[in-house]
Amino acid sequence: MALYALGDLHLSFQADKPMDSFGKVWKNHEKKIEKYANRMVKPEDTLVLTGDHSWGRKLQECREDLAFIERLPGRKILLRGNHDMFWDAKKTEKLNEEYKDRLFFLQNNFAVYQDYALVGTKGFTFEGPFYLNRRGQILGWDEEREAQAKKLVKREMERLRESFRLARKEGYQKFIMFLHYPPTNILEKTSPFTEIAEEYKVSAVVYSHCHGESRFGDSIRGKFHGIEYMLVSGDYLNFRPVQVLP
Ligand SMILES: [Fe+2]
Ligand SMILES: [Fe+2]
Repeated sequence: MALYALGDLHLSFQADKPMDSFGKVWKNHEKKIEKYANRMVKPEDTLVLTGDHSWGRKLQECREDLAFIERLPGRKILLRGNHDMFWDAKKTEKLNEEYKDRLFFLQNNFAVYQDYALVGTKGFTFEGPFYLNRRGQILGWDEEREAQAKKLVKREMERLRESFRLARKEGYQKFIMFLHYPPTNILEKTSPFTEIAEEYKVSAVVYSHCHGESRFGDSIRGKFHGIEYMLVSGDYLNFRPVQVLP
């Protein structure tokens, strides 16, 4: 039995959004997703998909993308990404009813893997704009957007706390924490997300959202304060799922 993660599938079976224009790595990327998942993930395994599943804006425009995910091997757990317009956070329960025993939507709830609780939410990081000088040094940033970002972080933290609270109430003491956004932005060393990860002594923080060589290093990768931070963006991994736990 194993726990795998992969993020940012950005499927567009129904939406007119060819991904090839984003670079070579995206050429026929759905074929790679299928190939690697089938090669690595066994029916008894769990695969967490960390958001940005579909380009469809409404649920009806995402059905084929969700059906594709459903056909991947193992138990599939989905996290909300910033592009997942089809998924209203308040209607997660409805999605879970509709896709019962097929897909699990992780929001204001938790999933179980062995003696671990899998908790998570979309998260949020302020991504600028940052004002740079000619040497690429940061001179300042858009403060209005930063203020808005702080509100979003607060709301996401409430959702994440709820996920932890429910898991702990059921007696879980070991956690894997999933985020769509990176836990910190390029300026931060720590954030409310790294703090809660340390508070609950999670074993790993798994996130995606960062696309392209220049963004892969935006946040923490590897061990930080005893916690493993794993970037699982599809293009970073060439769409091979990463094993989080044996
Ligand atoms: Fe993405
Ligand atoms: Fe994203």
